[in-house]
Amino acid sequence: MGYVGITTGLLFAELGWQVTGLDTDTMKIHALMGGKLSFYEPGLDLLLKKHLESGNIHFTTSPEKGIRENDIIFICVGTPSDKDGSADLQAVRGAATSIGTYMNDYKIITVKSTVPIDTNRKLVEWITESQLQPQPFDVVSNPEFLREGSALYDSLNPDRIVIGSDSERAAQVIQSLYSSIHAPILLTNPRTAELIKYASNAYLATKISYVNELARLCESLEVNVTDVTKGMGMDQRIGPHFLKAGIGYGGSCFPKDSMALLYTAKEQQVELSILDRVVAVNNSQSTHFLTIWEQKIDGFSGKTVAILGISFKPNTDDLREAPALSIIQQLQHKGVHLRVHDPIAKLPQAFLSEKVQQFESIETTLQHCDAVILCSEWKDYREADWQQLRAHMKNYYIFDGRNTLNGKEMTKLGYAYFGIGYR
Ligand code: UDX
Repeated sequence: MGYVGITTGLLFAELGWQVTGLDTDTMKIHALMGGKLSFYEPGLDLLLKKHLESGNIHFTTSPEKGIRENDIIFICVGTPSDKDGSADLQAVRGAATSIGTYMNDYKIITVKSTVPIDTNRKLVEWITESQLQPQPFDVVSNPEFLREGSALYDSLNPDRIVIGSDSERAAQVIQSLYSSIHAPILLTNPRTAELIKYASNAYLATKISYVNELARLCESLEVNVTDVTKGMGMDQRIGPHFLKAGIGYGGSCFPKDSMALLYTAKEQQVELSILDRVVAVNNSQSTHFLTIWEQKIDGFSGKTVAILGISFKPNTDDLREAPALSIIQQLQHKGVHLRVHDPIAKLPQAFLSEKVQQFESIETTLQHCDAVILCSEWKDYREADWQQLRAHMKNYYIFDGRNTLNGKEMTKLGYAYFGIGYR
């Protein structure tokens, strides 16, 4: 019942199926039973309440009940990065063991989690090994492409549904679950489905790192990167999406999945040199722009800086691999006094100190600040009254790490405005 699990469960409840949400975390399940999510995601809380009432979804911590009482089981557990970049499959294996132990008749086991190539094959071994008595089952790969912050919309309006299975019967059953959703369905084998997920995320990360590196060139050529990407995006072969330059991609997927795909390639002794550079550009993007901004403000050391937006992107409280955290750490080392704000996300206790404080309002955050660094493009910042906010600040530097404010307007208001890639 993490991000993917709860969204998938609520999607199927909304489509009229009977869903059981199973998790071993008792606190999480009790909260869900009471209509409370353990994370922030627009619209999901209302859907949860709706289907607790409709009776289409209920929750349990009992693997025995969850597995025996359902025909189709979706594995939606996490697959975090191991130290070497490979995906840690402990939770997938744990789920497979529970399924093998408790299943008492034919089941279709579907993997939603992002898993390395051939995990579906391994799953068959793990389930078979843990079965007390042989029971028939099929395994299906059905990767999830939803984005945090728009999880509900993405689930109801997917660009495609990928179903990978060696069993035609199981693939058809999974296809029928989605019959009321209008989206192309791609039927394939499990290995291809697994790779489609990694290849898609790595490609999107590639688009971002490409424009982020281009932004560095735009900066020195004094060309506005947003104008360049606008012109590029008009070419239908390129498309306008995922061309937004910024301080780098973060989140629970792009960083982890790029590393996992590189690990798979290494295992196969194949070099993915482009993806290697994608990761390197991303890892250095915030430092690159901090260095440029530092020159503009004549050194960050001893200054008071507001950090606006700490989540890895707007409309989520997820801080995983958030570029803002790296910026906070880099500025901490320079002895900068940091005043932090986010509409939803909370800075972990370990970051807080006399010199790093989080505030509830943008006004308070900006008090006595020399500069603002905008790290995620929440609407609250775009729509803020910057004329009025100026009165709270000591100096008026704005470093827009997401190119989200109107540079010309900000300059007119008397700010020294700098974005990413000469903006
Ligand atoms: C991503 C994929 O989009 C989704 O299909 C997959 O299932 C999970 O991973 P998510 O991580 O939720 O989704 O967010 P996404 O909107 O893709 O953004 C990822 C990161 O890239 C964010 O940090 C965002 O700020 C950054 N980004 C995105 C850019 O810097 N520029 C862009 O143009 C787009």
